[in-house]
Amino acid sequence: MLARALILLACALPAAAQASTRECAQSPGKVLELCVSVADGRAAYAVTRRGTPVISASALGLAFAGEAPVRWTALTDPQRSDVDRRWEQPWGEQREITDRHTEMRLRLEGDTPLNKSVVLTVRLFDDGVGFRYTYDAIPAGQAVDVMADNTEFRTVGDHQAWWYSAWGQERDEYLYGQTDARRITTAETPLTLKRQDGLYLSIHEAALVDFPSMLLTGDGAGTLSARLMPWPDGVAAKKTGPFTTPWRTILIGDTPGALADSRIELNLNEPNRLGDISWFKPGKYVGVWWEMHLNRSTWASGDRHGATTANVERYIDFAAAYGFSGVLVEGWNVGWDGDWTNNGDAFQFSTPYPDFDIAALAAYGRERGVNLIGHNETAGAVPNYERQLEDAMAFYARYGVHEVKTGYVRHSGDIVDADGGRQWFAGQYMVRHHQHVAEVAARNHIAIDAHEPVKDTGLRRTWPNMVSREGARGQEFNAWGDPTNPPEHLTILPFTRLLAGPMDFTPGIFDIPRGGAPVTKRVQSTLVTQLAEYVVLYSPVQMAADLPENYLAHPDAFQFIEDVPTDWETSHTLQSEIGDYVVVARQTRGGQDWFLGAITDENERTLSQPLSFLDPTKRYEAQIYADGPDADYRTHPMSYVISRKVVTSADTLPIVMKPGGGLAVRFRALP
Ligand code: NOJ
Ligand code: CA
Repeated sequence: MLARALILLACALPAAAQASTRECAQSPGKVLELCVSVADGRAAYAVTRRGTPVISASALGLAFAGEAPVRWTALTDPQRSDVDRRWEQPWGEQREITDRHTEMRLRLEGDTPLNKSVVLTVRLFDDGVGFRYTYDAIPAGQAVDVMADNTEFRTVGDHQAWWYSAWGQERDEYLYGQTDARRITTAETPLTLKRQDGLYLSIHEAALVDFPSMLLTGDGAGTLSARLMPWPDGVAAKKTGPFTTPWRTILIGDTPGALADSRIELNLNEPNRLGDISWFKPGKYVGVWWEMHLNRSTWASGDRHGATTANVERYIDFAAAYGFSGVLVEGWNVGWDGDWTNNGDAFQFSTPYPDFDIAALAAYGRERGVNLIGHNETAGAVPNYERQLEDAMAFYARYGVHEVKTGYVRHSGDIVDADGGRQWFAGQYMVRHHQHVAEVAARNHIAIDAHEPVKDTGLRRTWPNMVSREGARGQEFNAWGDPTNPPEHLTILPFTRLLAGPMDFTPGIFDIPRGGAPVTKRVQSTLVTQLAEYVVLYSPVQMAADLPENYLAHPDAFQFIEDVPTDWETSHTLQSEIGDYVVVARQTRGGQDWFLGAITDENERTLSQPLSFLDPTKRYEAQIYADGPDADYRTHPMSYVISRKVVTSADTLPIVMKPGGGLAVRFRALP
């Protein structure tokens, strides 16, 4: 008996020797440190930056159905490694991405069957951290119900936050409010915070695959807790066998630009699984779109139908004449008649209205180097779409379509599943759905631009046909929103929604006065701001959203839209304050030119911008699109001045922006 006890003790010793109560790791440049501890039944992590606390001891782990709250008992098997590598994006805001991080893996041991052994993987970059859980001890085939993610983010100090209340009927299409972070009820991520001392944080997630989307709930005292969008039965995530959660991420920087220029979101996703996707080309498009939002034509069939063969030919001609690669057509397929937002089952994705000849238009476009861009509005009737999905994508593929915009508008905001269950737009059900759509699309060499989407979490690295999304209040709100987007909206988006990934904002409205509409019922910017949007709001596919005739009325300003690319060698956020102004510069991929976009809020603003980002060995012609002296988004939105001058990297560019205004510059490299 004694001998057996001794042997058991001997076996236990090596493991016991590895157990610890606290393990820490530092980012490669020793900027950030994250420590994990297990004490008094609780597992927690804490983050410091240059020695000062950013996140204090915050809870970790998941809760499962049928289990009591876990008591964490041990932290074992720490393993650390360093990574410093570069990889290339097939398209994007930056060609070559550096992935430099420290990884620490630990095992957390708890006293419940499912939390008995959990791997916590932490990655520390100098500009933020990510961590995720792997439940590798769950037996294969065992179904488990995740009820909650217990992860907390206990912020240290007083913060301002830019946020809107989650769970709303308009999903992610709300204006951001700025409040003390203690007022947060439940917020969508990325959730961006500014601490009193000027430190910026943004909490989000990466690689959201087969799991519900994470929201953040505030406790009124600075602690934010993960909140998962549940299934109709209240279960958060339904998993089978071992699984890994998405990464929980915190970007940390001294400026808003440091958040915007961080590449952690991409680095925490898996490499490209689609291989060669040269069939997708980043580019600009026009389309049968704004005219419906202005109610000049209709999605529905009849006298005012927008998607007629003749009208689409007109857009193809315009696209061909001005170098656009795509023409989006909405309202071409059966299902738009009547109250479509409440009757998505009527949509037929391979049946055109009789006045839309897709074969003829595809051929007409092909002869002119223009592709049709498809549109599948589902009105949230996901089962109806899934039943037709294979056919819908094959149908488009037959006509040379390589990009489809999807949509999930529904009046009540709910998605209705095959059992009549009301699904959240970003619960696990919809995360799976969007993934499925992207995979079927990829097989058909089609890229997806999802509207009313699940928020982006960097999946474009793994599935580079997930090219863009909406997921915020876009330009469409400037057609019928009440109120429309105020000027500061464009200075908030780059540091909130855009931290998640590309946004199909649909820039470039030139007819701003719209026959004298009140300012809060039309675009609230100057014309130059509409140009700057192409640089400031990144997307590999960018629409020139206005009607062709409105561009032809201002050919000199339209030149900027013709010239600006949508694929970049590199990008820098040069100056910014969230809600006030933003200045971004990007270099053309595969070229020498640089483009700069600056946008201010409702206040007039003068900045000075050193051009040190330019190649010091070159001279450039700066083609400057500036607000006119009397420009003001309320009174003279159409006032602009175009000038040219030769500059070098040693020069400083004055940026003079009028209320609601901006600046757009092309730096053309001189031979
Ligand atoms: C909402 C989308 O955001 C918009 O772009 C589209 O035109 C309408 N739904 C109709 O599908
Ligand atoms: Ca929308």
